[in-house]
Amino acid sequence: MILEQEKKFFIQDMIEEVRLEAFPQAANQILKLLNDENVSIFNLSKVASHDTYIAATLMRLANSPFYGVKNKITDLMHAISIIGLDSVKRLILTISARSIFKDYDVFDKLLWEHMIAVAIISQTISFKFNLFNENISYVGGLLHDIGKTVMYKSKQIHYKSIVEKVNSSTNMLSINAETDVYGFNHCDVAKEILNLWNFDSLIVEAVYLHHDKTFTEGNLGKLAAIINFSDYVANWLSIGRVKPYRETPLQNLESFNYLQIPINDIEAFLQEILKRIDLLRDIF
Ligand SMILES: [Fe+2]
Ligand SMILES: [Fe+2]
Repeated sequence: MILEQEKKFFIQDMIEEVRLEAFPQAANQILKLLNDENVSIFNLSKVASHDTYIAATLMRLANSPFYGVKNKITDLMHAISIIGLDSVKRLILTISARSIFKDYDVFDKLLWEHMIAVAIISQTISFKFNLFNENISYVGGLLHDIGKTVMYKSKQIHYKSIVEKVNSSTNMLSINAETDVYGFNHCDVAKEILNLWNFDSLIVEAVYLHHDKTFTEGNLGKLAAIINFSDYVANWLSIGRVKPYRETPLQNLESFNYLQIPINDIEAFLQEILKRIDLLRDIF
């Protein structure tokens, strides 16, 4: 077991080494918008119009069959009004986060799909069962495994061997393999990088605790449990894994019981989630 301080230095060194894309500036601006209820369609269209990719994606989405609009939408403000302010904010944040996965190899693709799925599931259950602020849940879900990206890109460790181990098994989560081999895991790394990026401490801590099995009272416990449960759902559905992980039935999870999620028909719930993810998958 390596010393706490040694571990911290090693992780900080790794973060410096991999130099992830400049996600935080754009993200912090958008996070502010996400929490600001007074943001107007006009304000948002101004932010979106600075980025041609974001603007084009919003137009494409507003014109997709999902919204069923008959006449072609050609104006950005109109597109935003169709999609809805909150969805647009989440979309812009997600597109900004996408820049982290610039190289986009097979591992990046799987992880990105997983992170988007956990974001969507976190947001959906928060809203549907009135558990927590859906936007904060979305952000937590989207970033929860960011530590894996750093570990994978670092040349100081051989993360590929962890990926291979996990991918060939049905009963292993990467967190266990990481801790066994390196003495730290992607939650430790996430905590460092999100702090470095000045993320809100609630999000940092909840992401850090997303593999815990006990959850404290209050917002932190709630958000950590939401991410934990959503992560299990994604793993259950094999989103971001080569083989599904189904060690514990979803209803037996500590997070499920802690949150007292009122799902009776888990199959119907999973189908609904899959449908939602499929609808949004193509957009990113
Ligand atoms: Fe994780
Ligand atoms: Fe995960």
